[in-house]
Amino acid sequence: MTLPKINPIKTKGWRDLKNHFNEIKSHTISHFFANDSNRFKKFSIKFGDLLLDYSKNRINDKTLEIFEKLAEEIKLDDAIESYFKGGKINETERRAVLHTAVRNQSNDKLIHDGIDIIEKIKTERERIFKFSNEIITGNYLGFSGKKISTIVNIGIGGSDLGPKMVTEALEFYRNHLNIKFISNIDGDHIHSLLQVLDPETTLFIIVSKSFKTQETLTNGETIKKWFIEKTNKDAVSKHFVAVSNNLDKTKDFGISSDKIFPMNDWVGGRFSLWSSAGITIALAIGQDNFQELLNGAQEVDFHFKTAKFNDNIPKILAMIGIWYTNFWNAETEAIVPYTEYLRSLPSYLQQSVMESNGKNVNREGEKINYQTSPIIWGASGTNSQHAFFQHIHQGTKLIPIDFIGFKNSLFKNDEHQKKLLANLIGQVDALMKGKNEGEVEKELVSKKINEDEIKFLTPYKVFDGNKPSNTIIFDKVTPENIGRLIAIYEHKIFVQGIVWNIFSYDQWGVELGKELADEILKKDNQNSSFSLENYLFS
Ligand code: F6P
Repeated sequence: MTLPKINPIKTKGWRDLKNHFNEIKSHTISHFFANDSNRFKKFSIKFGDLLLDYSKNRINDKTLEIFEKLAEEIKLDDAIESYFKGGKINETERRAVLHTAVRNQSNDKLIHDGIDIIEKIKTERERIFKFSNEIITGNYLGFSGKKISTIVNIGIGGSDLGPKMVTEALEFYRNHLNIKFISNIDGDHIHSLLQVLDPETTLFIIVSKSFKTQETLTNGETIKKWFIEKTNKDAVSKHFVAVSNNLDKTKDFGISSDKIFPMNDWVGGRFSLWSSAGITIALAIGQDNFQELLNGAQEVDFHFKTAKFNDNIPKILAMIGIWYTNFWNAETEAIVPYTEYLRSLPSYLQQSVMESNGKNVNREGEKINYQTSPIIWGASGTNSQHAFFQHIHQGTKLIPIDFIGFKNSLFKNDEHQKKLLANLIGQVDALMKGKNEGEVEKELVSKKINEDEIKFLTPYKVFDGNKPSNTIIFDKVTPENIGRLIAIYEHKIFVQGIVWNIFSYDQWGVELGKELADEILKKDNQNSSFSLENYLFS
C-alpha cells in the first residue's frame, strides 16, 4: 500500500490545465458570475452547517472537470485508501500516517504491523481522559496536598502549535485551569514564566515525540531544576508528565511511569493534537469537548473518503491551491479567520502545510521542476485589514485567501458579530469586484473634487479586483467545528502532496540547522566562553 509515483506535469490533466489557463486567463471572476446565474450554487458546498463558497475563484465548469480528471490520473483515491488503511506512505521514515485513526470512534479493526491498533488507541485515550478528569475535578493533589491549578505544556513544533492553537480557539469552553505554553529555547521567556508559577499547584507536561528535541529537553531540565530547588526531588513524580514515543528517555528524565503517555510513530508530530499529545487540550476543555473535537474531525474524514469530487471540500480546496501555485504563479496563500479565537491558526498551518509540502524531491528521488507548497501566512480579521490588506488589494502579487467566519458569536453579541461578518463579506466582494476608473471618477465627482485633483487621484484609487478567495462559514466556534476545520486542512495537505508527487510526512529539511547548532555547541563547550562574533564573521 505505497503511494502512486506519477509525475504530475506529464499527465494529460496538467497539460489540459495549462491550455485551459491560456483560455481563461483574461476572464475575470466577475465576468464568470455575469455569465452564470447558477455560479454560487454550483461552486459552493454545504456540509452540515458548514458552507464552503469557492465561487470567487478564477475557475469555471471546465476547470473543475480537469481538476477531477487530474485527480483520477494521479490515482488520488488509491492514495486516500492507503492513507486511511495505514499503508507506510511516509516512505522515507518507513512509517504509516495514522492521525485519522486516533480520532476514529468506530469499532472497526485497523491492523498495523499485524496488530489491531484501535483497541490500543481507545485505551490510551481513556488514560488521558481519566488523568485529566482527576486534575480538573481536583481529586489529584500535588506533593504538598494542594490541587493543581496551572498546566505548563513544554514542547515545540507539533508538540506545541496544535495544542496551543486549539486551546486558544476553544477558550470559551475552558475550565478553571490556567494553561501556559513554553516552546522556544529562549531562557528569558522561561524565567519570566517561572517567576509567576507556584510549584505546589503547577503540573508540567513535556510533550516530545522523539524526546530528543533540544529546545524541549533544555526547557524541561531548566524547569525541573527550578522545581527541585523550590521543592524536593521526590515531588517531581507528582508534577511532571511526559508524552512521547521514546519511553526510555522519559524514564531517564525522571518521569514516573504512571505519568508517561505514549505517542506512536505512526502519528506525525504536526498532526498529533488528536492523540495523547493533545493532553493539554483535554485538560483545558475536558473530556466531552475533546470528544467533540475528535467527532468533528472524524466527520470530515468520512466526508473526504466518500463525497464525490465536486462536493469534496478538501479535494476542491487542494486543487484550487494547485491551480494558483502551479498555473497562476501565486507564491503564497493567506489565511484570515474572522475570530480572535483562531488567531494562531496561521502559525499552526505554517508548520502543517510547509513542513509537509515544502519539498523539492519527488517520490522517485528526483529533483522536481515545478512549485510545491505555497508560503502560508495570515492573521485574524479585522486586524489584518489594517495591516496587510492594502497589499492584497493593490500590491503586485497574486495572493489567494481563505476567509473563515462564524455566523454567531459565542457571547451572543450580535452587534459586533454583524460588523465582523460585514467586514468579511465586504473584503471578499471588494477583492473580487474591485473598482474601475469610471467608478472612481464618478465617486470623486460626487464629492465635488476638482478636475485636476480627480485626474491625479484616480490611478491610486483604482482596485483591479479579480482577486480570488475561498470563504468557509460555520455556525459558531465549537469543538466540533474546530475539529472539522483542522481536518479539512490536513486532508488538503495530503491531496496536494499526492498531486505534487512528494512525501508529505517527513521533514528532513529541519535537520541540518539542528546538526550545525549542535556542532557549534560542542565546539563551544571546549572553549570557555561563547563568542557570537567568532561564528558570524568567520
Ligand atoms: O521541527 C521538526 C520537528 O521534528 C517537528 O516535526 C516536530 O513537530 C517538532 O520538531 C517537535 O518534535 P518532538 O515532538 O519530537 O519534540
